[in-house]
Amino acid sequence: MMWDKALPCATMTDLAILHCRQLVTLAGPPGPRSGPAMRSLAIIDDGALHVRDGRVVAAGTRREIEPALPAGTEIVDAGGRIVLPGFIDAHTHPVFAGNRAGEFERRVEGATYAEIAASGGGIRATVRLTREASAGSLLATARRYQDWFLAGGTTTIEAKSGYGLSADAEIKILQTIRLLHADARLRYVPTFLGAHEVPDEYRGRADDYVDLVVNEMLPRVVRENLAEYCDIFCEINVFHVKQTRAILLAARALGLGLRLHADQFSADYGSLLAAELHAATADHLEASTPAALAALHAAGVQPVLLPASVYHLGGTRYPAARRMIDLGMPVVLATDFNPGSSPTASMPMVLSLAATQLKMTAAESITAATINAAHSLRRGGEIGSLEPGKLADFAIHDCEDYRELPYFFGRDSTHAVYLAGRCVYRRHA
Ligand code: NIG
Ligand code: FE
Repeated sequence: MMWDKALPCATMTDLAILHCRQLVTLAGPPGPRSGPAMRSLAIIDDGALHVRDGRVVAAGTRREIEPALPAGTEIVDAGGRIVLPGFIDAHTHPVFAGNRAGEFERRVEGATYAEIAASGGGIRATVRLTREASAGSLLATARRYQDWFLAGGTTTIEAKSGYGLSADAEIKILQTIRLLHADARLRYVPTFLGAHEVPDEYRGRADDYVDLVVNEMLPRVVRENLAEYCDIFCEINVFHVKQTRAILLAARALGLGLRLHADQFSADYGSLLAAELHAATADHLEASTPAALAALHAAGVQPVLLPASVYHLGGTRYPAARRMIDLGMPVVLATDFNPGSSPTASMPMVLSLAATQLKMTAAESITAATINAAHSLRRGGEIGSLEPGKLADFAIHDCEDYRELPYFFGRDSTHAVYLAGRCVYRRHA
């Protein structure tokens, strides 16, 4: 069950955003966008947005909107900046203790991600710290990261557990995610990633750990309504395909949607299973063959591309975004925010990488980061575009043209962010 209904952030008055040099609405037919449709953003020049009780009433030109506003409408002057739907970051790991800057330095000096993981570092190092951390300190750290997402113009994130790897520690993380959501500054869509790695005490006994996930963790997570999706790190030397299938089938039987870390390092390792099970998404796909992409496409699985993790790991093999778009796949872009492979919460940084490395146009990447991401989270009817009836989740960016978003890189252009019509972030002067 979704948590959204509980968000107390509807404004009880009318609100209008005027003087948007570009109001990028992404209005269009229902459903995720693919192929050439990824290039149409439905931009209104000198646009204005009318919001009531947290939802969009109308999007149009200032001349159309302004005269129809009721007396007492609160007016926000966008000052000639541009307005976009908030980014929807459909793959993040935002609750963990400590960080791995030291490990990063070892990688800079030549160690590989796999070597560090095999020697007990990597995900397991973060797990040790996260297990020790109190719920209060985890929440405080994750609130700091919440601001980083907002600073990039993001309004919804899919948030995975996965640094607990015991029933109690996984529940502690998911409860933290629920508290973060209740802050009503950023929307969180919770995903249970109990099978992110085999924890220290189960080394060499991965099947026993899979049993724990299936028989103990999943039922508890579902009983406590702590997740909408189940994800797994399917990879050689982590969870193999048979183990992954067992967990995903158990998750599905309990009503969870399915997402999958697939083909990050090993060719077609996870993607074919994602296709077989008609998962909602297959994420990473750096090592996928054309045949695997065709299978995902035929099965209606959305690809979630994470170029920032390739960048941060110093890799050169990026996912084949152009091939996916040409096939007609409704591509999604996300940060993969996590302490190991992708310590960035910035969707503008991801748009930059999508341009230079994935060869996606600005319009394609904005579509991938908004409406397509919304559909991958079963929220295409609520968020991801600025259309009448939808939640008024948007960001005002200090740009003159949407194409500046991937162009000026290393800079978050966000001026202000609104969640359900309420200002939740404003850039300091
Ligand atoms: O998506 N690949 C597995 N999980 C993360 C990395 C997590 C970590 O290193 O802490 C990823 O890249
Ligand atoms: Fe990930």
